[in-house]
Amino acid sequence: MKALALASLSLLCLLPLPAQTDEALTDEALEARQIHAGREKAQPCTTCHGLDGLRQGGEMPAIGGRRYDELLYQLGRFRRADRFHPAMTLLLQTFDVADMADVAAYFASVDRDRATRSNPYVAR
Ligand code: HEC
Repeated sequence: MKALALASLSLLCLLPLPAQTDEALTDEALEARQIHAGREKAQPCTTCHGLDGLRQGGEMPAIGGRRYDELLYQLGRFRRADRFHPAMTLLLQTFDVADMADVAAYFASVDRDRATRSNPYVAR
């Protein structure tokens, strides 16, 4: 009897869990997931822009904490060489629209004030 109960219990574990669809997630959860993915995908960008996108100098603009839609718009321009920077244009041509949206969400999520206090690269 005990064995039967155990067997049926382990059978239960084999049942597929209901698939978690995007519709089941709140906007906040979706945004957090996008930011998380964007942080990974932004690795090659951070070489130049710094981890929080606030490294500046020469012609390098600060991108951390800027508006999401503005960042996404500029990335699109670089990607189609409407605005040209050799390294960025080449790199962005390996990104699809979802990748660009993720990195834009990541850099937009940077708390500029907090990052500025601890970032030696940012002019105070
Ligand atoms: C080789 C160094 C380098 C890499 C790698 C790089 N960038 Fe840039 N980025 C620059 C420079 C330099 C500029 C300024 C170019 C200009 O003004 O035309 C710039 C400009 C930008 C701008 C425009 C900001 C503004 O003020 O209009 C955005 C947004 C941006 N980069 C995001 C990214 C993202 C996202 C990545 C990764 C996918 C990335 N960059 C990778 C050097 C780099």
